Amino acid sequence: MTVPGQPGRQRLFFALWPDDDTRRALAALTGKHLPPGAGRPVEARYLHLTLAFLGSVDGAFRACAERAAATVSGAPFELEFRRIGHWPRPRVTWSAPESTPGALIGLVTALRNALIPCGHAPETRPYRAHITLARKVRGPLRDTDHEPVRWPVTDFHLVASETHPRGARYTPLMSWPLGQPSMPAYPSMG
Ligand code: 2AM
Repeated sequence: MTVPGQPGRQRLFFALWPDDDTRRALAALTGKHLPPGAGRPVEARYLHLTLAFLGSVDGAFRACAERAAATVSGAPFELEFRRIGHWPRPRVTWSAPESTPGALIGLVTALRNALIPCGHAPETRPYRAHITLARKVRGPLRDTDHEPVRWPVTDFHLVASETHPRGARYTPLMSWPLGQPSMPAYPSMG
């Protein structure tokens, strides 16, 4: 699972990875709120919320990022998704919380700060918590409230992204719990 043309490199990001109930509820939003044929829904199994995007990295960077993740502490928290909307330039439909909870901002900030010594460039854009529900969406679509989806967040994950003709595939590689001494929950699968 390496980047095509870049042996030894992987495209990686840190994310919140929903439990099965949350995943089902989020996937149902797309069917309910996106007109048929208006875009390409993200498969339910790939729905996630990005915390920090690493891009194409080598093994040394990945090892450093894993050590950085293990230093991040936090407590479990709940996210409540309430709003569905559309960004015309990346042409995505997303779901987002009404406001970003302090616990999520704290997690993102701690993770990104821990990654800086690995060579991770600090993000210049403000963090906008969202789950991409569909890509290549033809608008215009109005932002609107949706029935709340509550997601109990208990851990965060390192995820690999692979590009395929029919869309990106995401594979969680490791996870770290929130609120306990930070040991990875499953070992590196390379
Ligand atoms: P998106 O859902 O808003 O498209 C894997 O590609 C994840 O990383 C996606 O959730 C994507 O966000 C995000 N991502 C992709 N490219 C990125 C970039 N250059 N900067 C920040 N996040 C990015």
